[in-house]
Amino acid sequence: IELNEAVVYINGVRRVIPDGLAHLTLLEYLRDIGLTGTKLGCGEGGCGACTVMVSCFDKRLNKCVHSAINACLAPLYSVEGMHVITVEGIGNRRNGLHPVQESLARSHGSQCGFCTPGFVMSMYALLRSSETPPTEEQIEESLAGNLCRCTGYRPILDAFRVFAKTDDTIYTGHSLFGHEGNNFICPSNGKPCSCGLRSDTNGGTAKQMDAYNESYECDSYNVIEGSRYTDKELIFPPELLLR
Ligand code: FES
Ligand code: FES
Repeated sequence: IELNEAVVYINGVRRVIPDGLAHLTLLEYLRDIGLTGTKLGCGEGGCGACTVMVSCFDKRLNKCVHSAINACLAPLYSVEGMHVITVEGIGNRRNGLHPVQESLARSHGSQCGFCTPGFVMSMYALLRSSETPPTEEQIEESLAGNLCRCTGYRPILDAFRVFAKTDDTIYTGHSLFGHEGNNFICPSNGKPCSCGLRSDTNGGTAKQMDAYNESYECDSYNVIEGSRYTDKELIFPPELLLR
C-alpha cells in the first residue's frame, strides 16, 4: 500500500481516491460512482436515508468495529482506510436478498422505498456489531435516526423483531429461515442468533403469529443460501489491517 494513497474499500472493491475531492461527502462520492441505493434525503443528518456501514480495525480493541453512519455528513476522506458497505453490498434481487432486506420486504416494511436502504443498513450494522443477538430495545434504538414518512414504522419494527434476542422462547420449526431449534447461525453476523419466529403460548399473540407465519412463504435458509443468497458476508479487507 502506498502511504500517499487514499485507499478505501467499497463493497469489497478497492478504490484509490484521487486528490482534490475534499469538497465531496461520502454520499456524493457513492452516488457519483453509481451506487445510488444510498439516498439523499435531508442532507443534514436528520433522516437516515443515506445510512451506510463503515468498518475499521481498532488496534486498541484488536478487532474490527462496524458502525452505521450518515454518509451525507461524512467528508469523503474521513473514510480513508475503512471498508464502506452500502445496501448494494449486502444483497439484491438477482443474487438474493439479504435476510434483513427479505424480512423487511415480506412484512411490507417498504412502501415508497426511499427510506428502506437506510433502515436496512442500520439494522445490518447492528447485527454485524453485536456480539450476541440484540434486544428489541437495541433494535429500536438503532433505528432512532431513520425516518419513514409512509409506513408508520410498525411493519418495519415487525420485520426486524425476528432478529431480536428471545429469552425462554422455543423456536418453531416453521420460521422465516427454516431453522429448527436455536442453533441457527445468523448470516448477518456468523453467530448463533434468534432470527426466526417464536412459538408462543398466549392466545391473541398466537393468532397473530399464525397470521404472520402464513404471510410468509416459508423459505428455508438453505434455499436462500443455496440458490439465491449465495454471497457470503463481505469480510474486512486484509490490506486495511496493515494500515
Ligand atoms: Fe438525511 Fe443523510 S440524507 S441523514
Ligand atoms: Fe416511504 Fe419509508 S417507505 S419513506
